[in-house]
Amino acid sequence: MRVVQLEAEDDFDGWRAAARALAAARIPAQEVLWQIGGQRADLFGDAPITIEPMTSDPAPSLRVSRDFVHLASRAILHSDPERFSLLYALLLRCLDYPQVLRDRADRQMRRVLDLDQTIRRDMHKMRAFIRFREVPEGNDRRFVAWFEPEHHIVRANAPFFVGRFANMRWSILTPRGSIHWDTVSLAEGPAAQRGDAPGDDPVEGIWKAYYAAIFNPARLMTNAMIKEMPKKYWKNMPETALIPEMIAGARKRELGMIDQARAVPGKAHGSATISLLRDEAASCRRCPLWGPATQTVFGEGPHDAQVMVVGEQPGDQEDQAGRAFVGPAGEVFDRALAAVGIDRAHLYVTNAVKHFKFEPRGKRRLHARPNAGEVDACRWWVDQERALVRPKLVIAMGATAARALTGRTITIGQVRGTAIELGDGTPCWVTVHPSYLLRLPSHTDAAAEFDRYVADLQAAFASLEAVT
Ligand code: URA
Repeated sequence: MRVVQLEAEDDFDGWRAAARALAAARIPAQEVLWQIGGQRADLFGDAPITIEPMTSDPAPSLRVSRDFVHLASRAILHSDPERFSLLYALLLRCLDYPQVLRDRADRQMRRVLDLDQTIRRDMHKMRAFIRFREVPEGNDRRFVAWFEPEHHIVRANAPFFVGRFANMRWSILTPRGSIHWDTVSLAEGPAAQRGDAPGDDPVEGIWKAYYAAIFNPARLMTNAMIKEMPKKYWKNMPETALIPEMIAGARKRELGMIDQARAVPGKAHGSATISLLRDEAASCRRCPLWGPATQTVFGEGPHDAQVMVVGEQPGDQEDQAGRAFVGPAGEVFDRALAAVGIDRAHLYVTNAVKHFKFEPRGKRRLHARPNAGEVDACRWWVDQERALVRPKLVIAMGATAARALTGRTITIGQVRGTAIELGDGTPCWVTVHPSYLLRLPSHTDAAAEFDRYVADLQAAFASLEAVT
């Protein structure tokens, strides 16, 4: 067994030099024991071999790609105790089979990629979530931060902080070691404890005020927030003390914002608000459907319309035009409205899902039904549209629209012809989607179903006349 002593947990240069010497002698991975601390030992017992650092022009038999070197230099920062051995085993295989680096199905390669990804994430979290506290230092001041990384990333992350805060004197203390910058040079120190870093100070007040000011309750997505800013980092971030309180008050503040918007008399303000909503929806990323779609198709119509009509999702033509119901289903809808004697210009027409979901078939894009998760993700927009337009009546065309409005799975046959009440008491009439009529194979059935569809719309509009 060969024992390699590395100087530190993140001693990539030490690992690289030893791995090179061992690999040149084709020593199998299971015969090498990697240890941290102390002097680097001689790897070959009685027959010492000098460990040369890998040069940019290594021996041909040891030529490995730059990608491998970069990957290994990050993966080695992981706290998995097997990482040195795993990387050495992979290095040996690369010598005979360099393609392994591109083989994502390879078990060893996948493990190394996982380590790499974890390190990237940990480094990003440190950059994003570190919070400095100001402490006096002589006639000057120093900014000190406490952080608990999961892996051995502190030294590797130092250049980022030097670049970002080059003119400040700062220290980052962690249980895995400390780094100190004095505006000229970087120094390393031992592991620290939480108590070594200062507590509350005026900088925290600034962070808290800033965070409270930028917090938009209408955009609160608790799960996404916790995913991006896991709770374990909260304790070192002053502004997170505000989060539970802000979450609790978010819905109230959101409704307050909407009320405030409405309280201003005149149509112009409502229009401005819904236009802002439309602009915001243009960059919606609440679900993955935005990716393949051409654009967000938002609702349109008078911003104080008495009736809101909700469809399923834009189709191929709507996706290209950026407008709801301008394709074949829109033609059926327009014909039905004409039969009822309603001018579409008086309606606010929107969709449950704002992006076109499709499956590519050659040059064609075939409509694909949005799933419950996509409908629920998009529900936020329909709720906002409804809160701003405040229609007296809502018409849901199809089961997807009914789900978006009620949050439940609705069987159209069971509720057709009567109004159901939405959460805020607004009556909602549910009918079929016009594209259902387009799919009926028999002309006779299609004509009969069209008449039923017209009758549903007629009943809905008549109910409005009865209350106004
Ligand atoms: N179908 C819908 O539900 N909405 C559209 O905008 C077009 C087709």
